[in-house]
Amino acid sequence: MKSRKPMVAGNWKMNKTIYEARDLIRAILPQVENIEAVDIVVCPPHVCLGVAKRETEGTNIMVGAQNMHWEASGAYTGEISAGMLVDLCQYVIIGHSERRAMFGETDATVNKKVHAALKAGLKPIMCVGETLEENQAGQTAAVVEGMVRGGLIDVTPEQAQNVIIAYEPVWAIGTGLAATPEGANGVHKDVIRPVLRELFGPEVGGAMRILYGGSVTAANAAELFSQSDIDGGLVGGASLKPDSFAAIVKAAL
Ligand code: 13P
Repeated sequence: MKSRKPMVAGNWKMNKTIYEARDLIRAILPQVENIEAVDIVVCPPHVCLGVAKRETEGTNIMVGAQNMHWEASGAYTGEISAGMLVDLCQYVIIGHSERRAMFGETDATVNKKVHAALKAGLKPIMCVGETLEENQAGQTAAVVEGMVRGGLIDVTPEQAQNVIIAYEPVWAIGTGLAATPEGANGVHKDVIRPVLRELFGPEVGGAMRILYGGSVTAANAAELFSQSDIDGGLVGGASLKPDSFAAIVKAAL
């Protein structure tokens, strides 16, 4: 058994209304009842966080947001701060590749958001991952290492205990083409883990969780999660179906 507690987080992306979110959580709950050995997180759109909080209170499902701004308050029309989220959820996804590609996020903004989240008491799930082009050019290790370092500048070892890394190769997201278990584990174990150990010391760096994301399904989850340094998954499409999300949670047991 791994020393790190596995985590399975569902990134719902821009899907589900408030009522649909309620129904999805109600359908997941009985299927994962009594599972305490896996940290189970659902990350619905911001407007569904309230209903997600209500539906999961007193259960083993935790809630995360998908994004936030780094400032505490002010003239940032349309944005939401960590202080607003902390009353609704425990986790926040930061720097997802869709936000980097479509909404101009960079390692610098990711780093600001990581700090703001930690300061407010939220646990960031910080996403890193190379594009297909970078992968084919043999740049995976350099790109991923740069993203990990850039996103974690000035994070202390104490704070790092509350940070989760998600390795999500961009070419594997929503394509049905997951990384191979060995390939993903190679990035976790030989690229990300050594950087975490260097930055935060062997103990903290060894205890931080590194999730894999990108076309995780009920069919491939168990093999992915059996790898030495894959500590669970950040699941997109398959987290929108209660049966497949529950099966993926169970694959992490
Ligand atoms: P898919 O599981 O749909 O490939 O999405 C992965 C992802 O982006 C999770 O954050």
